[in-house]
Amino acid sequence: MAALANRSVKSLVDTGMREIPKSYIRSENERSKTTAVCTESIPVIDLSGIYGPNRTEAINAISKACEEWGFFQVINHGVPERVIENMMRAHHMFFELPEVEKAKYKAERHDKPVVYGTSFTAKDQKVLEWRDFLMFIVEGTIDAQTLKDWPPIIRDSALEYMTEVRKVALEILSALSESLGISGIFESIMGHERLLLNYYPPCPNPDMTFGVSEHSDVGLITVLLQDDVGGLQVSHNGQWVAVQPISNALLINVADVLQQVLSNGKFQSVEHRAVPNYSQARISVPLFCAPARSTIIKPVPELVNEHNPSKYRPFTFGDYLTYFHSRSHSGKADNLAYARLE
Ligand code: OGA
Ligand code: NI
Repeated sequence: MAALANRSVKSLVDTGMREIPKSYIRSENERSKTTAVCTESIPVIDLSGIYGPNRTEAINAISKACEEWGFFQVINHGVPERVIENMMRAHHMFFELPEVEKAKYKAERHDKPVVYGTSFTAKDQKVLEWRDFLMFIVEGTIDAQTLKDWPPIIRDSALEYMTEVRKVALEILSALSESLGISGIFESIMGHERLLLNYYPPCPNPDMTFGVSEHSDVGLITVLLQDDVGGLQVSHNGQWVAVQPISNALLINVADVLQQVLSNGKFQSVEHRAVPNYSQARISVPLFCAPARSTIIKPVPELVNEHNPSKYRPFTFGDYLTYFHSRSHSGKADNLAYARLE
C-alpha cells in the first residue's frame, strides 16, 4: 500500500487537511450503496429479564434476535455507568496523546498483545479505512505480565471494562445455549478476547469513505459500546439499517465463524460497517469474544442430522483468524468460504 498506510488518520486530520487523500476514496459503485434506511431499527432487549421470573421469554427474545437480525442492543445489562464512562474517557485520553507516545504500541502483526494501528490490514488494503485503533489481545487470563504491556493511561479502565463486559457476553452465550437445549456449550469455549478501541476522526468527505467497511466479525459474539455520534450500519434483508445510539446501551452481534458454524447456520452473523462523521470524532469499543486459537471448530453434534447436514469442515480458530487477518475486509460470504462445504 502507499506510504500513507502507516500514518494515523488522526495525524492527517490534525494537519488541517480539507479533502481526504485518494487512498481512502471508495469506488462510485461502493459509495452508491452507502445510504442507510432509518425506518427499521434493530431490536432492543432488556437484559434484566433473564434474571427474573420471565427468563424463558427473555431467552426467546435473544435467540429470535440472533436468528432474525444477528444484531441487537441490550439495556439494563448490569455494567455500571461509571465503568462505561471511565472507559470512554480513557479511550479519548489515549488517542489525544502525542503521536510519538501512541507509536510505542505500533506493531506489524495483530497477534502482539497490544497493537496501535490504523485502517484494518493497512499494508494490504486496496482502499484504506478512516480509523485508528488500539487493540488488546488476551488469550486465557489477564495476568500481571499482560497488564504491564498495556498503556498506563488506559490500563485500569480497560481492565475493569473488559471484566464487566465479559460477564454480559457469557450471559448472552449461556442464554443462546439454553435456547437450543444444550446448556453450557457456547460459553464454555470462550478463551480468546480482543478489546478494540476504534477512533474515527472527523472526516472532510464522509460520503466517500468508510470508517470500517462492510464485514462480519469472526469470533463467537461481539459486545460493542459506542458513543452518541452514530455511524454504525447493519445489513438486514438487503438494506443498510442505521443504528440509533442509546446512551449506556451495549450492542451485541453474532460473529460468523462460531455462531454460524457451531450452530450450523441457525444464528446469523451479520455484515455491518461504520461511516465517519463530518464534524466530530466517534469512538466505539467492541469486545470480540472467541474460543482459544487451538479450539477445533465444528457444528455442535446435536445440531447436525440427516435433514440438516454439517455445512462446514472442521478447522482451528487460530487458522481462521490468520486467514481473516491476511485479507482486507471483504464480507461474510468470503469469510465463510474458508470452511463451507460445497
Ligand atoms: C468492528 C466494528 C463498528 C463500529 O470494529 O468490528 O464493526 O461501530 N465496528 O465501530
Ligand atoms: Ni465488526
